[in-house]
Amino acid sequence: MNIQFDEKNRVFKLDTEHTSYVMAVVDNEGFLGHVYYGAKISDTDVAYLLRTDENPMVPSKNNRDRSSFLDTFPMEYPGNGVGDYRESVIAVLDKNGHSAVQFFYRSHQIFDGKKKIPGLPASFAKETECQTLEIVTEDPVLGLEAVLVYTVFAGSDVITRSVRVTNHEAETIALTKVMSASFDMDAEDYEMLTLHGSWARERQIEQRPVGYGKQSVSSVRGESSHQEHPFVALVSKDATEDQGKVYGVHFVYSGNFLAQVEKNQFDTLRVMMGIHPQDFCWELKQNETFYAPETVLVFSGNGLGGMTRNLHDFYRSHMIRSPYKNKKRPILINNWEATYFDFNEEKILTIAKKAKEAGVELFVLDDGWFGARNDDYRGLGDWYVNLEKLPDGISGLSKKVEELGLKFGLWVELEMVNKDSDLYRAHPDWIISAPNRFESHARHQNVLDFSRNEVVDYIYEMIAKVIRESSISYIKWDMNRYMSEPYSKGSAPCEQGKVMHKYILGVYDLYTRLTTEFPHILFESCASGGARFDPAMLYFAPQTWCSDDTDASERTKIQYGTSYVYPIVSMGSHVSAVPNHQMHRITPIETRANVAYFGTFGYELDLNLLSDAEIETVKKQIAFMKEHRELIQMDGDFYRLLSPFEGNETAWMVVSSDKTQAVAAFYQRLNKVNASWLRLKLDGLDANTKYEVSCDMAPVTSYDAKIAEAYGHKTEEDSVKTYQAYGDELMSAGIPIDREELNKKGGDFASLLYTLKKVDE
Ligand code: DGJ
Repeated sequence: MNIQFDEKNRVFKLDTEHTSYVMAVVDNEGFLGHVYYGAKISDTDVAYLLRTDENPMVPSKNNRDRSSFLDTFPMEYPGNGVGDYRESVIAVLDKNGHSAVQFFYRSHQIFDGKKKIPGLPASFAKETECQTLEIVTEDPVLGLEAVLVYTVFAGSDVITRSVRVTNHEAETIALTKVMSASFDMDAEDYEMLTLHGSWARERQIEQRPVGYGKQSVSSVRGESSHQEHPFVALVSKDATEDQGKVYGVHFVYSGNFLAQVEKNQFDTLRVMMGIHPQDFCWELKQNETFYAPETVLVFSGNGLGGMTRNLHDFYRSHMIRSPYKNKKRPILINNWEATYFDFNEEKILTIAKKAKEAGVELFVLDDGWFGARNDDYRGLGDWYVNLEKLPDGISGLSKKVEELGLKFGLWVELEMVNKDSDLYRAHPDWIISAPNRFESHARHQNVLDFSRNEVVDYIYEMIAKVIRESSISYIKWDMNRYMSEPYSKGSAPCEQGKVMHKYILGVYDLYTRLTTEFPHILFESCASGGARFDPAMLYFAPQTWCSDDTDASERTKIQYGTSYVYPIVSMGSHVSAVPNHQMHRITPIETRANVAYFGTFGYELDLNLLSDAEIETVKKQIAFMKEHRELIQMDGDFYRLLSPFEGNETAWMVVSSDKTQAVAAFYQRLNKVNASWLRLKLDGLDANTKYEVSCDMAPVTSYDAKIAEAYGHKTEEDSVKTYQAYGDELMSAGIPIDREELNKKGGDFASLLYTLKKVDE
């Protein structure tokens, strides 16, 4: 039993393999208190930790100090306007114009498995894999019910939470805030770790002390965003990859969010996650229910690496829904950085042919194939093929690509419209825009009003027709602007507070319809790179384009930060051309692949423009990825070794679950002269297993043979260096990395790739 209810003490105890989460019902009124979350404890008789025998902790016996109680007590789902001056998780506008609300325990239910949340993506599992607790709470004054839902995924050390709120009164009530999860805990020495960024610089790591008052990250852009990520972790000050306490809170939602930590006068923390209350107002008529999205909670006593591996397992097993959950991802080539809008069928087929020869498996046609889309001023919304560019249509092109032996994939941006489009001319009121206000553009486009069913229906029919008529195996679903002036011409004035959430529900509806009708299609989500990389998207699209910055060295930071919470199989990562289109930087083609291997892996350049030597290298890279794809993407555990946020070097590795194989990579930014040797300490191996370590020592493809000779660098014949060592040596003493190796690999932006295999003794 992972969920226990101790009836005598009225204690709920939720256990995963290594963690416990404890709540208790106290006092006659039935306040639900948060007792404990952290490393596993054995006893359920722990309600004494709530100190309800002390003043001011017994409101019914000590009514004089009721508000002291409310302002002190660790609440599980704190109400609003009733004496708890910390941030509330829920607020209303009732028939009297009042915002107060407060919930008390009424009943509960424990069952195997997990229910779906209507309209929302959420984690899932078989009945034997998880257990759920539903606690029914009530505000008797308002006749409002809040059901707090907890599911325990014991093996991944994850507990998910969500909330549903039902109005049982005849009068309509408006919810002005409904957070999905909150818990109170002692402040100890925790720091707040978040992932922040910008376009082309997503998910950089920030760690800050938790000060008194409120500190938060959020988005009100209508998407989970480049800028802040719907994730917050509390980490003990000394936490490393292997040691220290880490509480991770991650939101399964793609729209506006608020993740907040509040430190109060008594040095306790209130941590919460949910839909951002700004512009949110949801009216509930009698018997209507509002479903708040799911939050994922994870605790690791083994540092950040422990948190990461728990989340990776959890998302790979319980969030990525599609036939691709347990499938290796196809090695693709995408034409965006190869051609931008300037292509025709012949050019596309030339790129596809060369890619096939190199071993690529999927060709992806990016933006520019539809309507009058010859630049980004026009065409969005017109999801029918541009016959001037592609005279045989997508159906003809997809068949020709398949005849070459490649699968075919297509780019779409279904939530957007350009004013220069047939769709906008026919339906100018279908965009999100406020009466009498300027309609802000971004990339010359506007957001279609997906809060309206008829808009979603129309777009569905248009794109489903293209898919039905063609041979499409993959879709890249892009979204290239934030929402502004959030107002729907399809909703009454009193319903406008629903628009931003209804928009996201519309996106999920379209994803649901398309993944249902076309279950074989692999979806990759994208939003100007990684502005909508969130767990909810993973539910539909098992991979996400990580960033529009394809420079290998910048990508080490972006992918390192992203790896905190997302499995590497979900990170879209490509080898692109040099000079790089965003950084104007030249990096060796070997390093570009060494970074892209730790993701979905593909190419985004015209292979016809590479030298013969580079093409040979590309062929070897593809063969390498095919050989190691199962280990890297499906089976392996990810370990971060050196952080690009702390120095010139980055390193990480993947170890197979049986610890017999591994792939490790080391990357440097700028070369150093006369520098000391470095030992790279590996992780995750079996201490007593002997491994054969191989490192490809061939100089970079662009390296001039004469220079190699002059410097006495080794040539192709002895290009693979191998040696044998035990796991404990490799983890404690490390792999020696010397400077000569890095010089040969290009100096600046050089990298080394190691493969490890168990030696049978
Ligand atoms: C933004 C994406 O991130 C790019 O990869 C590309 O698909 C462009 N949009 C196309 O407009």
